[in-house]
Amino acid sequence: MAESTAFDVVDIIRTKRDGGELSDPEIDWVIAAYTRGDIADEQMSALAMAILLRGMTAVEIARWTAAMIASGERLDLSSVPRPTVDKHSTGGVGDKITLPLAPLVAACGAAVPQLSGRGLGHTGGTLDKLESIPGWRAALSNEEFLAQLSTVGAVVCAAGDQLAPADRKLYALRDVTGTVESIPLIASSIMSKKIAEGSSALVLDVKVGTGAFMKSEADARELARTMVELGAAHGVQTVALLTGMSTPLGLTAGNALEVRESLEVLAGGGPSDVVELTLALAREMLTCAGLTDIDPADALRDGRAMDAWRAMIAAQGGDPAATLPVARETHVVTAPATGVLSRLDALAVGVAAWRLGAGRARKEDPVSAGAGIVLHAKPGDEVRAGEPLLELHADDPARFERALEALHGGYEVGATPTLAPLVIDRIA
Ligand code: URA
Repeated sequence: MAESTAFDVVDIIRTKRDGGELSDPEIDWVIAAYTRGDIADEQMSALAMAILLRGMTAVEIARWTAAMIASGERLDLSSVPRPTVDKHSTGGVGDKITLPLAPLVAACGAAVPQLSGRGLGHTGGTLDKLESIPGWRAALSNEEFLAQLSTVGAVVCAAGDQLAPADRKLYALRDVTGTVESIPLIASSIMSKKIAEGSSALVLDVKVGTGAFMKSEADARELARTMVELGAAHGVQTVALLTGMSTPLGLTAGNALEVRESLEVLAGGGPSDVVELTLALAREMLTCAGLTDIDPADALRDGRAMDAWRAMIAAQGGDPAATLPVARETHVVTAPATGVLSRLDALAVGVAAWRLGAGRARKEDPVSAGAGIVLHAKPGDEVRAGEPLLELHADDPARFERALEALHGGYEVGATPTLAPLVIDRIA
């Protein structure tokens, strides 16, 4: 993108504050100047708030995304001898799907280049989960990344500093200024990183429900549509699934606990919702990669996905046979009555797992590998008064009280619930 002449950032803030449309040169300049450090954080915060309140046109979002991509490098995956396809989830409680999905899709012949982040807030990060495996390392050089992608077919590693650095800076600022919840800013943030990653195709898992960024289906649809359009505009074939996140996925929330559950899925078992979503996303990814005659369910059944998992973990220094960390203390929450579990709220479980030590409040905080929650029942299951409903795991028993507070009002035993489908819609 050509370097534009300088603008006055206060004029740009005023234009957006008053509901106007930013021009391409203004957007290019503001993103480049902020990345260089020529625009102060308080000015960028004001602009982000104006965008959150006033929105952006499709033209503005496209240019904002392009400018963020241009702030860093775009990886070239043309040397990888397989079709490349990645998945991104907007984040949910117990969302461990990347763990079985990446090796499964690799076992079926595609290459999955996943540059990932760490968890912040109540949804866990994929890198935090994998770091509970002894020896596994998240940092790879570009050469190591490309070599593993070509041989194993799946890499999940930390995004380097050169991938959309404008977003790195802006996301940290949005996080502390109440400006995360803006569809244009979320869509451009996610898609700038995913497009810069260099994959030919992308499948998005856009979550909707209490445990998701997007609480309403209408907002989730708008976010999905915006991201699909941004992908297409940059030559990345993009499909989105809208999926439910009102209750946790699977039966575990927490780093090592989720790795254990993923291993069950890779061994051909595991909770039915995790298997259903893993296969739905795998089928979309394989279709994007042109591998339509392969059924990923076979690769789960016959052990090929597990072999790819072992290769993926070992390639990054991890020991796939090592014993996973376990928290020192547990506390059991029992069912308050006999009947059907009518509700188990994803946000309550996510916040409780976070308070047990599974997540971090600030990006420099450590996480506990063993902390988290094991569910003994899901909505629709019968429960008996006094029997275990949830099992809390923590290294420090002092954490149980605040976790129990988060769970207060988060579950109910009563009438049989009407269960919404896990995959709500497909947007392409
Ligand atoms: N994840 C991102 O990467 N960016 C956002 O803005 C929100 C979620």
